[in-house]
Amino acid sequence: MADIESLLKEKRVFKPSPEFARQANWNKKTVREHRKAGEKPERFWARMAKENLSWFTPFTKALDWKPPFAKWFVGGKLNVSYNCVDRHAESWRKNKAAIIWEGEPGDTRTITYGELHREVQKFANVLKGLGVKKGDRVALYMPMVPELAIAMLACTRIGAPHSIVFGGFSADSLRDRINDAGAKVVVTADGGYRRGVPFALKPMVDEACQATPSIAATVTVKRTGEPTEMKAGRDVWWHDEMGKASAKCAPARLDAEHPLFILYTSGTTGKPKGILHTTGGYLTHVTTTARAIFDLKDEDVYWCTADIGWITGHSYVVYGILANGATTVMYEGTPTYPGPDRFWDIIERWGVTIFYTAPTAIRTFIRLGDEHPKGHDLSSLRLLGSVGEPINPEAWIWYNKIIGNRKCPIVDTWWQTETGGIMITPLPAAVDTKPGSATKTFPGIHAAILDEEGSEVKPPDGGFLAITRPWPGMLRGIWGDKQRYKETYWSKWKDTYFPGDGAHRDKDGYFWIMGRIDDVMNVSGHRIGTMEVESALVSHPDVAEAAVVGRPDEITGTAIVAFVTPRGGVDAGETLGKALLAHVTKEIGAIAKPKDIRFTDVLPKTRSGKIMRRLLRDIAEGKESVGDTTTLEDYSVVAKLRGEEE
Ligand code: WT7
Repeated sequence: MADIESLLKEKRVFKPSPEFARQANWNKKTVREHRKAGEKPERFWARMAKENLSWFTPFTKALDWKPPFAKWFVGGKLNVSYNCVDRHAESWRKNKAAIIWEGEPGDTRTITYGELHREVQKFANVLKGLGVKKGDRVALYMPMVPELAIAMLACTRIGAPHSIVFGGFSADSLRDRINDAGAKVVVTADGGYRRGVPFALKPMVDEACQATPSIAATVTVKRTGEPTEMKAGRDVWWHDEMGKASAKCAPARLDAEHPLFILYTSGTTGKPKGILHTTGGYLTHVTTTARAIFDLKDEDVYWCTADIGWITGHSYVVYGILANGATTVMYEGTPTYPGPDRFWDIIERWGVTIFYTAPTAIRTFIRLGDEHPKGHDLSSLRLLGSVGEPINPEAWIWYNKIIGNRKCPIVDTWWQTETGGIMITPLPAAVDTKPGSATKTFPGIHAAILDEEGSEVKPPDGGFLAITRPWPGMLRGIWGDKQRYKETYWSKWKDTYFPGDGAHRDKDGYFWIMGRIDDVMNVSGHRIGTMEVESALVSHPDVAEAAVVGRPDEITGTAIVAFVTPRGGVDAGETLGKALLAHVTKEIGAIAKPKDIRFTDVLPKTRSGKIMRRLLRDIAEGKESVGDTTTLEDYSVVAKLRGEEE
């Protein structure tokens, strides 16, 4: 609550500078016109789809809306790789850098649009050679190497939806995602670099593929050169296949609603949801927003620090950026390797002009000290972005002053895996910014603050954020689970999308996002379900019961705290704690490791047997140290008392 209080008290306003406004893709006038047009979302987005994308066959109808199922750009045919690569490779951009890549050890590669064009076609042929056909799913489990972008684009070329699994997820998570999507091929690498040391990926694929009946083949990129086992008849090397592949593969003419990708995200149950995005609407949304919000120009060197394994990387490292013919920077490793100034060093050396990162990273840099950014020439920067969680005003001001030298607009962009692209955001030449507020909806996007019944809440009262009209980048479903799609997103109110965030609006109509209101934690800008961590914990033989809550954390936004009841006779101590951390890492991945594990003989429950999460959250925020079971015992008494009140 303290955070929300301080956000409410934030009064500072930053106006767009006249210099920025003069050169912007979307100036005040354009934005005014687009907002007006956006009152009829179908018409506005149809115009954007025509202006910003190349279509093989024009669409005949902008939107077919049978709630909660939408079809955008009906009858239209296009190809994502054609829009992101061919049309630039066929223009003066042929020899322009599409991807500037930097490995953690310091090796670099620059890939022009012309080169990308050849590589994408070659890999599309490799996939075809492995039996991948239109509609078949391909899993990508890779480090941040250019081959990941190439593989994505190759999938889109032949109409094979990809399912990217972040390289930090465990073999078990990979296996579950492969099986849920029924993927035919996995593309991976021998490994990647993190904090100066190589980590292996292929062994995880081998482990996962012991129980993935749909997998017919794997392709491995050689990145680290570490010894890697290859299974004859199933595993091939990227470089071997690419060496043999033809560089000609015509782009498939795909329906606007052809599935583009599946991306798994956490929800309120133990099972991640496969969020499905399709072709024409998604590409229109990310291309238009990237151009308007980041003010992308041909001269720009754009860098989004997100891993491609997350939606931010899909939409704003790859698709939205390349579709605009811009130069995108990809960095493989840790922000603080070999020193705390790695990011600033990258910005200075490549002359990065647009920088998009997460509040958790900004807070880390604040703590590391101003001398690191101040030791570099960051004058190339002209626009800064933030995404993933609410940015606290202090971090916003630091970002503005220390990184932006007070001259760069900051775009705090609210959106989700499900929304595909940015929804609530400043437009850098047209919207005054207030530190901590994502400001207003993008033209053509309609949002409101509603109460439980669906009535609009009057400013400045808080309520649930709601999206009241369909939008082109919206998820089209949860893979294989229509019912869950309806229930999760469309059952709270009639024909209105429920994102799961709390928010309020101020007197100027600005949105202030307060964070998740469900049992989903936002750890370093990534969603992790409390249930997921709980089911991982209780799957350990020594655990009888577990409850997981989030606790505010200065750097990561939320820290995971687990309350664990060991089975009878099991010693609750450091050894078990360590074993559980290793177990969660194995079940989900290191990102889901609790920061704190507390052992307790009983979990506080209501009479009906529901775990009292609110009480656990209070306890988690308190002062008790790890393994202090006595205090918690006392709390369980408090819990029983409070249970009577509920
Ligand atoms: C959740 C979505 C969208 C890319 C990264 C996260 C939170 C995201 C903001 C922001 C306040 C934000 C919300 C949202 N969130 N951006 N600018 N201000 N909160 O994608 O993993 O799907 O998570 O992240 O809670 O629901 P995701």
